Amino acid sequence: MASPDLVVRIGGEGGEGVISCGEILAKAVARGGLNIHAFRTFPAEIRGGLAVFQLRASHGPTRSLKQDLDVLCAFNQEAYDTYVDIIKDDGALCYDPELCTPDERLKGKSSFEMPLDAISREVTEGTRAKNMVAVGAMIRLFDIPLELAQNAVAEWFDAKGDKVVAMNQKAAEAGWHHSDEHFKPLHRSFERHPERDQILVTGNEAAALGALAAGVQFVPGYPITPATPIFEFLCKELPKFGGQAIQFEDEIATLAAGIGASFAGKRVLTATSGPGLSLMSETLNLASMAECPLVIVNVMRGGPSTGLPTKTEQSDLKFAIYGTSGESPRCIMAPFDIYDCFWQVIRAFDIAEKYQMPVILLTDQALAYTSMNIPRPELGVFEPVKRLAPPLDTEREGFQRYANTESGVSPMPIPGQHDLPYMGTGLEHSETGAPNYTPDNHEMMTAKRFRKLKTLGKHIVQEPSEEVEPEGAEIGVIGWGSTYGAIREAIEMLDEQDGVKVAHLHPRILSPLHEWRIRRFLGPLRKLIVPEENYTGQYAHFLKGKFGIKPIEVHKCRGMPFSAEELYRAIKEEL
Ligand code: COA
Repeated sequence: MASPDLVVRIGGEGGEGVISCGEILAKAVARGGLNIHAFRTFPAEIRGGLAVFQLRASHGPTRSLKQDLDVLCAFNQEAYDTYVDIIKDDGALCYDPELCTPDERLKGKSSFEMPLDAISREVTEGTRAKNMVAVGAMIRLFDIPLELAQNAVAEWFDAKGDKVVAMNQKAAEAGWHHSDEHFKPLHRSFERHPERDQILVTGNEAAALGALAAGVQFVPGYPITPATPIFEFLCKELPKFGGQAIQFEDEIATLAAGIGASFAGKRVLTATSGPGLSLMSETLNLASMAECPLVIVNVMRGGPSTGLPTKTEQSDLKFAIYGTSGESPRCIMAPFDIYDCFWQVIRAFDIAEKYQMPVILLTDQALAYTSMNIPRPELGVFEPVKRLAPPLDTEREGFQRYANTESGVSPMPIPGQHDLPYMGTGLEHSETGAPNYTPDNHEMMTAKRFRKLKTLGKHIVQEPSEEVEPEGAEIGVIGWGSTYGAIREAIEMLDEQDGVKVAHLHPRILSPLHEWRIRRFLGPLRKLIVPEENYTGQYAHFLKGKFGIKPIEVHKCRGMPFSAEELYRAIKEEL
């Protein structure tokens, strides 16, 4: 049975403090010993528009965004109008009668009147802290001690000074008392584990922690939503580990600096989003051609152009694989969830260094801005995979930096450590690195560079979490990236509610394809469904091209992630 969970969505105008309210609530609930999945989405403007925070809490796994709400906390009419229809039949509305008027759409569902503005005015002489009144009220509903919320309030507003902290704690307390007097906690038989050694992080933070664990030494960057928090985090933390993060004038300069540092032997990561990756594309070709290892975390957002900068989409896959002039090999990966962002960044470094090529890790806004509690990671315990170095006694004369080896991987000296000069150039070159434009050489060197991808494809190690093949399943789903949790939960729902077994494959390395494994997975299936958060079905097309199959494509292009319920319905329709 799926574990019971409690899903609360808070909605209000950008600038009203919805996000602060949700962040504080999420911290307190996680510290109260529950697993959480905390998603936020907001407009691109600094003020105005609908800002939303959704908290899902449970003692079981909380792997995806739930669609149906136990509680909608509406700070204004727009939030009510937009989400009233997804309140569950036994769910409730929490609202301020001064700010929102419920109508017949709420019929049959419960509601709590929560005078946010009035309580805030009464205890703080203003309405700025109304969001903290909501924090107090919600904490009471979750049956979490007020003290945990008060600590989280103090941490959240610490930089704004003691007065702001005190004002907000007062408001939270008042909200708690109002809730205590008027409403009962929502009855849930949660098992709580407040003593766990866990941290609450977003996907962006987990990726940045992964970079530190992987021994990143240089992070060139240029800010872009929704990837900026990775750069900000590393600007602050990397110097403590002896590395450097530097902002450049644009994405082209950023990657060029990264290639220089990689050439000099440093472990390099940069983070960007679709428009930034476009600007990096030519420099990325140079990294492939000069065979310089580096990791790019591309946090996908709605596109094209400036598109939906604060919303999610899985629409950079084709560009990541094919967005090259000429043919330049690179590895494309995608993590499943927040914790996986940590692990896959470490793995991306290993692949980049081992195969001397750029690795693009595709996360997205939904992962980047969702937080979950994860076990506290240890940073200093990983033995980094090192790039293949020539023996120290290698002769200078005739040294072949780009030796045409069986695996395609050639020894890469580090300037200063090896007395072995070589040219790393965008021009086609011979095995020594010297420019060479002869037809035979170009064919040989192109094949050598692509052979590294083949070698990598043969050595992909499948992790158990990537595949579920229940006996007798004739329907299968292949997904990628952040849709993992929603697909898994949808498949569990099909099993529990309909007795239907569905197989699931979710490769973390998208290109090169893990060919034999995908063929084996496809073997017994009668139908294959490929859900993606884009308009055109980019991964489905990639699979079609490679395996000649005709999957059923399920697309979502609305700036929001799939929910398990949506996928459950989509798969069921295909039964
Ligand atoms: N007491 C004091 N200050 C409070 C408060 C309270 N009770 N509640 C909120 N605030 C402050 C917050 O600390 C924050 O201050 P800051 O601007 O100094 O950080 C501010 O009010 C906004 O509150 P917050 O809860 O963070 O956000 P919100 O729910 O009101 O929504 C956003 C505002 C997030 C939508 C907006 O600020 C934003 O970032 N938009 C996206 C911009 C973007 O990335 N565009 C893309 C460019 S390509």
